[in-house]
Parts: sequence; structure tokens; C-alpha cells
Amino acid sequence: MTEHSIPRIPLHDGHSIPQIGLGVWQTPEDQTADVVRKAISLGYRAVDTARLYKNEAGVGEGLEHHPDVCVTTKLWNDDQGYDAALRAFDHSAHLLRRDVIDFYLIHWPMPHQGQYVETWKALIHLKKEGRVRSIGVSNFAEEHLERIIGETGEVPVLNQIELHPYFQQKALREFHLKHHIQTEAWRPLGKGAILDNPVIGEIAKRHSKSPAQIILRWHVQNDLVVIPKSVHPQRMAENIAVFDFQLNHEEMAQMASLDRADGRMGEDPMTVRF
Ligand SMILES: NC(=O)c1ccc[n+]([C@@H]2O[C@H](COP(=O)([O-])OP(=O)(O)OC[C@H]3O[C@@H](n4cnc5c(N)ncnc54)[C@H](OP(=O)(O)O)[C@@H]3O)[C@@H](O)[C@H]2O)c1
Repeated sequence: MTEHSIPRIPLHDGHSIPQIGLGVWQTPEDQTADVVRKAISLGYRAVDTARLYKNEAGVGEGLEHHPDVCVTTKLWNDDQGYDAALRAFDHSAHLLRRDVIDFYLIHWPMPHQGQYVETWKALIHLKKEGRVRSIGVSNFAEEHLERIIGETGEVPVLNQIELHPYFQQKALREFHLKHHIQTEAWRPLGKGAILDNPVIGEIAKRHSKSPAQIILRWHVQNDLVVIPKSVHPQRMAENIAVFDFQLNHEEMAQMASLDRADGRMGEDPMTVRF
């Protein structure tokens, strides 16, 4: 695996993002630097963290001497609002040991707090100042996206949302496409809960690949950006070794048929109260 093996997806602001990055939610802080260094040695060129994960310092340590590796971090709910968002950014950038952060996202819209438009304005300011390369959001529904775009004219480069074969988010993906917003899939493996699906198992056997690789290949062929999490080097390597085979039309249709009305595993952004 060379560093050129993971393709980059172009974004509407002229920048780009590696199609597969390493997620580090629940990666313990004291292991994070080593996990990130290992991932880089395997060929990863992007890491996804958040203030919530309490491991930005470990990510920063692991990324030291690797300015070419993209980092995404996210602003937590209690840092919403214009001034609080600017302060939160400074703190995250300090922990990450970077003057410029590649991707800064609003983690959840939290519509009942009523602050996500002001928060978005702070991200726009950070971008203008050159402290953030690209700004985006996470867990935004259509109405939240419409509101920030309508009130500021600034379209997020990406929306990071729960997305996996059991929860495929087709309507929101269509909306993203219309607005040139890249869809980024969190929990791409369903946190491991869909690895034993028999349809996926059958396809995996046919390609001599693992179920995780079939699921990640499905994401890749749907033009999604994905951030699978693992702390195990062998799985980390497996999760990016998905560019040497293809699912055919019928296999993609079989995967599409796994979508479930009740497939959501995480919180619903419309109703969540953390
Ligand atoms: N924006 C948001 O609100 C939000 C929410 C949730 C997650 N995220 C981001 O998305 C990332 C990924 O989501 P996630 O961590 O919830 O779930 P995930 O990536 O779908 O699944 C991770 C789980 O699968 C296991 N795993 C990974 N690769 C495997 C493989 N090849 N074979 C078997 N098991 C494997 C991991 O265990 P081991 O580590 O033990 O290998 C871990 O338990 C997070 O780390 C975070 O960066 C964002």
C-alpha cells in the first residue's frame, strides 16, 4: 500500500479529501498517538476526531511531522454560538498542534439550542482568516442545511452523517448532490453490527474479501467518503485495501436492498438532546 493508493475526492471549495480516513471515536487517549502513527505508516492520509472524543491531543501527537495528513475535528454542542465557537476552535487547534485545520465541522445542529446559524458564521470567519481550510457540518438534515445556506450563502463542503448498508440515507444524499455537498459516512461498518449479514458474507466469499471490505467498497462505489474506526493494525490495513476489486451491478443492487426503515443506530439529529 503506497500513500497514493487512497484516492482523493474533490470538494466544491477547490480542496479535496482522501476517500477513506481513520475514525478515532472511542480510541483511548493514551493509545491514540500510536494508532495514528500506525495508520499513517499503512497509508492513511486523513484522521477524523472531535472535541467530544477527548483524544485531539493524541491525534496531534501522532500527526506531528505529517503536515500532509488531513485532520478533521468538530465543535461540540456546548461550544455553539459565535464567540464560543471561536474559542473552541483555538483550543482544538492547540491540542492538534496545527495552525491550520483541514476540516472543521459543527458536530450536531441541536436545533432546540437555536445557535447553529451563528456557529456557522464563526466557521465562515475562521475560513476567511485562513485558520481552517474547509468548513462543513455533521448530522445536519435538509432543513438545517437550507437554513445555513439561505442565511449565509456559504455551502458546507461536506455533511458527515450516519450511513451504512442498513441506513443508506438516499434522500439526503440526493439533496447533497444537488448542492455539491460531499456525503461523508460515519459508522460506515455499522460499528461491526452488520459484518455478519449473510448477503454481505456471500459477496465477500465470491471476492475472497472480508465483509468489512465489501461494505467499504460499497461506500467507495457510491462516491462516499468513509472514516472506519479500528485500533488494530491488521483491520486498519484491511479497511483501506478496497481499491483492487469492484462490486458488479447485481452486487450493488443486493447491497442497496439491505436498507431498512429502522436502520438508524445512532441519535436522530431532529430530536436528540445530549
Ligand atoms: N459525526 C458524528 O456524529 C459521528 C458519530 C459516530 C462516529 N463518527 C466517526 O465515525 C467513525 C467510525 O464510526 P464508528 O467508530 O462508530 O463505527 P465503525 O467504523 O462503523 O465501526 C467500528 C467498529 O468496528 C470494528 N472494526 C473496524 N474494522 C473492522 C474490520 N475490518 N473487521 C471487523 N471489525 C472491525 C472496530 O473495532 P476495533 O477498533 O476493535 O478494530 C469498532 O468496534 C468514528 O470513529 C468517528 O470518527 C462520527
